[in-house]
Amino acid sequence: MIGSFHAQVVQDVSSIELVAVCDIVPEKAQAIADKYGVAAYSAIADLLAHPGLDAVSVCTPSGMHADHGLLAARAGKHVLVEKPMDVWVEKIDELAAACKAQGVILGGIFQNRFPRAVQQVKKAIDDGWLGEIVFANGSCLWLRLQAYYDSGDWRGTWALDGGVLSNQAIHTIDRLLWLVGMQPDVQSAYCPTLARDMEAEDLGVALLRFPNGAAGIIQGTTLANPGLTTAVTVCGTKGSVIIEDNRVVYFHADGAPEGLVEVEQQGAGGASADPSAIWGGAHAANIEEFGRAILEGREPWVNAGEARKAVQLLNDIYRAAGVGPYAKATA
Ligand SMILES: NC(=O)c1ccc[n+]([C@@H]2O[C@H](COP(=O)([O-])OP(=O)(O)OC[C@H]3O[C@@H](n4cnc5c(N)ncnc54)[C@H](O)[C@@H]3O)[C@@H](O)[C@H]2O)c1
Repeated sequence: MIGSFHAQVVQDVSSIELVAVCDIVPEKAQAIADKYGVAAYSAIADLLAHPGLDAVSVCTPSGMHADHGLLAARAGKHVLVEKPMDVWVEKIDELAAACKAQGVILGGIFQNRFPRAVQQVKKAIDDGWLGEIVFANGSCLWLRLQAYYDSGDWRGTWALDGGVLSNQAIHTIDRLLWLVGMQPDVQSAYCPTLARDMEAEDLGVALLRFPNGAAGIIQGTTLANPGLTTAVTVCGTKGSVIIEDNRVVYFHADGAPEGLVEVEQQGAGGASADPSAIWGGAHAANIEEFGRAILEGREPWVNAGEARKAVQLLNDIYRAAGVGPYAKATA
């Protein structure tokens, strides 16, 4: 699904040329290749041998990201990886080390850092307008029906996906961590599988403690009927902000100039109940920035260090909840 969207976005970004696509299912690769008049491959090794290929965008199932990125890096290609950069932070570190050793650029997709108003909030927080951060809440209350999990045998598995926190709420986790600029400890977490037939969690709640003593809460579910919003709320000693989906719906900072942050109360919903709606619509900016990083020979904004933060917290939450690889043996 997202691979075809990347092909379209790359086609639209003038500094990047789409030259080939690859999917293990040959008909899928061929369909996209025909649409854009480029080469189709069904084996990654063949894609990597395509003449003139500079960079690869990895859009395979999440638990394959680092492995596929490693193949590209070892072939000397720059690597862009969809979110999450991998489900497990150790694999991200392995990929980052390989890219460094090969001298290729590694970037991630967290497109919801890119909308202008969200960037204004980040700058306002960094400039101290909210004062000392005391509380941050991130919620992703979406709906994914059983048919969605049945649509791919990797979905909802511990090996290749994780659950709502890893797949859907990871955008919200990333936005929250990026805005507050601190990595928290997990005080407690609860990640059950309540209603869907899947291995990983369809509900996840975690209580966080930031290094400055501030508290945070993460809440995610794919059981919210009919699919509600995502929201990040940050409260500081001098002000507060609420971002719903990609709209800043509330911003206050004592003494802040008018228009410091664009507040927009009305807007569309997006991917809350529709997996095919690409959440946020800022992919083009994210991909274009990665392309500019290659041309300028620098780290992209969403580099490995940035992309790993949400996955570090995700893994810490799973550990605190005792799920997935952290589940205690019951026998
Ligand atoms: N940034 C976003 O908003 C966003 C949105 C949707 C999905 N994603 C991410 O994109 C990734 C893919 O999600 P999706 O919904 O597109 O899944 P999908 O199952 O629709 O697509 C994955 C594709 O990878 C192919 N594939 C699997 N193994 C392969 C291999 N070894 N070689 C080549 N191709 C292989 C599959 O055939 C399939 O076509 C996930 O990591 C997901 O988290 C991100």
